[in-house]
Amino acid sequence: MGKDVIVACDFASAEQTFAFLDKFTGRKPFVKIGMELYYAEGPSIVREIKARGHKIFLDLKLHDIPNTVKKAMAVLRNLDVDITNLHAAGTTAMMKGALEGLTREDGTRPLLIAVTQLTSTDQEALERDILIKEPMDQVVMHYAQTAKNAGLDGIVCSPLEAGKVHDRCGQNFLTITPGVRFADGDIGDQKRVMTPAQAKEIGSDYIVVGRPITAASDPVAAYERCVAEFCD
Ligand code: C5P
Repeated sequence: MGKDVIVACDFASAEQTFAFLDKFTGRKPFVKIGMELYYAEGPSIVREIKARGHKIFLDLKLHDIPNTVKKAMAVLRNLDVDITNLHAAGTTAMMKGALEGLTREDGTRPLLIAVTQLTSTDQEALERDILIKEPMDQVVMHYAQTAKNAGLDGIVCSPLEAGKVHDRCGQNFLTITPGVRFADGDIGDQKRVMTPAQAKEIGSDYIVVGRPITAASDPVAAYERCVAEFCD
């Protein structure tokens, strides 16, 4: 798969989601379905968006004992999504179990991506709550390397880290990067942001863009602007 813009459909219902997606009459965006929409609507929302011809990143961030994650992934593989994910903190055994569960009988499977440390976790919380004393960037790189060693396809990271992750884990190890904003746009609650053009420059494979598109007065124009900056 090549570089693409993934639109975070952070909506609370199928109705709102389809009202949004109906605006896209040309190029059909790659769609991210997160916990809010999935828990509201269940697996049917994935099937319906897929049937409309969109690629799907199912962002459910699994984290449990290896056997449970393996079995959950064996269910998710039937939804035929393009990318799904888990927490690297679940350990190598969990990530290997997930890959096994996700792999279909014909050997195909969705891409499997790891979350390293959530961008909402800062150094203080890392040390105080999770009792990890190393610097955040070392922790992220270590989790990326662990995910690669387990056989995963890439990680979610800040666009600021994408270059370093490629240097350490190889150019084919995918970096999916949220925290993208237009140069002239609001940054909202994101702290460390980059423009689509900067994310391209630093080597992100996929950018995940939510509110700069979903809350724009013209979402299709905002999406096309992202595509023009990042893909073309
Ligand atoms: O609206 P915005 O562009 O900030 O949306 C970014 C999307 O990426 C949201 O769905 C958010 O949950 C997700 N995300 C993120 N930072 C991470 C992981 C996921 O912003 N580290």
